[in-house]
Amino acid sequence: MSVYPKKIANKLSRKTADPVSDEAVCGRAASFICGCFAEACIAVDGDAQVIENIRFATNGCGFMLASSFVLEEMLAGSELAALKGLSDQHLVAELESELGEFPDVRKQCALVAIEALRTAFGRLRKARAAEFAGDSPLVCSCFGVSEDDLLAAIKTTQASRFGDLETVTRAGRGCGACRMLIEELIDSPKIQA
Ligand code: FES
Repeated sequence: MSVYPKKIANKLSRKTADPVSDEAVCGRAASFICGCFAEACIAVDGDAQVIENIRFATNGCGFMLASSFVLEEMLAGSELAALKGLSDQHLVAELESELGEFPDVRKQCALVAIEALRTAFGRLRKARAAEFAGDSPLVCSCFGVSEDDLLAAIKTTQASRFGDLETVTRAGRGCGACRMLIEELIDSPKIQA
């Protein structure tokens, strides 16, 4: 008999998944409470804007491992536009809808898996931004939006916050790794001048 709730125990009985692809970019996060870590590796088809491959590794408890399995199943083959900025609120709701509500002391286990995923996307964005050959820097690697594109969109919409850009660009609505930069652009002197 498992020490875990039934839904968690059922998820842990899943067969081992295929290995991660060679093109994958990985990110890690760890818990300051229990010391356990999770690593997320993702391969994204930039043209199709789809997650081709996603794998987690963790030395954590069953809650962290089950969260990782659900995130893999949920996001494999998923369009970047469906990520909704990888918000904790959205992803925790999805995890708990499949695994049941987590005890308070275990909520951080799910958050570590989510943070590892976010770190992997952050590294992917940095790698793509470094390779980008446009006239101005690449800001949103999920949707190929450059700094000039964003400055033009901000001026057109007279955006004063991120949500104001929704009708003109999808930037920031995938993995969310570029959101802080977009908010900085909205407040930048180039716009305020
Ligand atoms: S880099 Fe992923 S949403 Fe912008």
